[in-house]
Amino acid sequence: MKNQLQTLDDGLLTPEVGRWSEKKYSLIHNYAEMFATGMKHKWDCRVYIDLFAGAGKAKIRDSNRIVYASPLLALNVRDRFDRYIFCEFDPDIMDALSQRVRKDHGDVDVKFVQGDVNLKVDEVIKSIPKHSGRFKVLSFCVVDPFKLSSLDFATIKSLSDFYMDFLVLIACGMDAQRNEKIYLSQNNTVVECFLGDPCWRDNLPDAKWKRISFSDYLVDCFSQEMAKLDYKSVDLMDTVLIRQPNKAPLYRLAFYSRSDLGTKFWNQTKKYSDPQRKFDFTWKA
Ligand SMILES: C[S@@+](CC[C@H](N)C(=O)[O-])C[C@H]1O[C@@H](n2cnc3c(N)ncnc32)[C@H](O)[C@@H]1O
Repeated sequence: MKNQLQTLDDGLLTPEVGRWSEKKYSLIHNYAEMFATGMKHKWDCRVYIDLFAGAGKAKIRDSNRIVYASPLLALNVRDRFDRYIFCEFDPDIMDALSQRVRKDHGDVDVKFVQGDVNLKVDEVIKSIPKHSGRFKVLSFCVVDPFKLSSLDFATIKSLSDFYMDFLVLIACGMDAQRNEKIYLSQNNTVVECFLGDPCWRDNLPDAKWKRISFSDYLVDCFSQEMAKLDYKSVDLMDTVLIRQPNKAPLYRLAFYSRSDLGTKFWNQTKKYSDPQRKFDFTWKA
């Protein structure tokens, strides 16, 4: 299969991912493309932020395919963002990413933040150009952790002080569902940190009675926390469920914006998220 994600092996560190990641990459690429072009004449500065950036390329497991991953997909858009901010914990992965960026995008304004994003969020924030009445700055932030414990809601909350849309991977199948018993135990704080809410268990009995699964409950709680930060309400139907080939749920991609235009772009993006379909984006205001 040949599609717009595909690229070549360059010999640098390339983490392996499952086939299902192609759908995630398609969504990120298509939304970034739409955002970058659609917001170009509406804002003075468009910023792309990747909190769990990875190496920029990934190898599809059990295949020879190498694909662009989120940072390079965002760099490859037609109307590039005015600034890119990449945060990555692993120094070797960060090194591979920065080499790739230097090689193919040496003229682009990129800031690298190496370390745990939950500890380095101030550094990420310092890298966002200053918004003013005369210089309007809008960011698109991709949040793509492996598991719930990698993300503190406080990180999202700090970033939400800015004009920013978020695309968040919620590891509700691969992590939450598998570890439900552990996370439910009273002294476990993983979900509390992820949601930023010590009372997250309070509505569980009601959810159980309504036969809402633990993973759907978490997605709903996360969306409610985003709504407290003035993001538009998101329900399960608005998110994209990514499944393994055996149909077992892996994670949900949820999009949060404060603007109707952001939501409109996300709805259009979902239509074009099939990796086999060539993304044919024509901008309509
Ligand atoms: C799911 S992968 C990222 C994928 C990337 N967005 C892509 O498109 O391939 C998660 C990445 O986040 C990094 N990571 C894990 N915990 C982190 C943390 N607390 N802060 C920053 N990066 C982290 C991992 O090293 C890994 O490269």
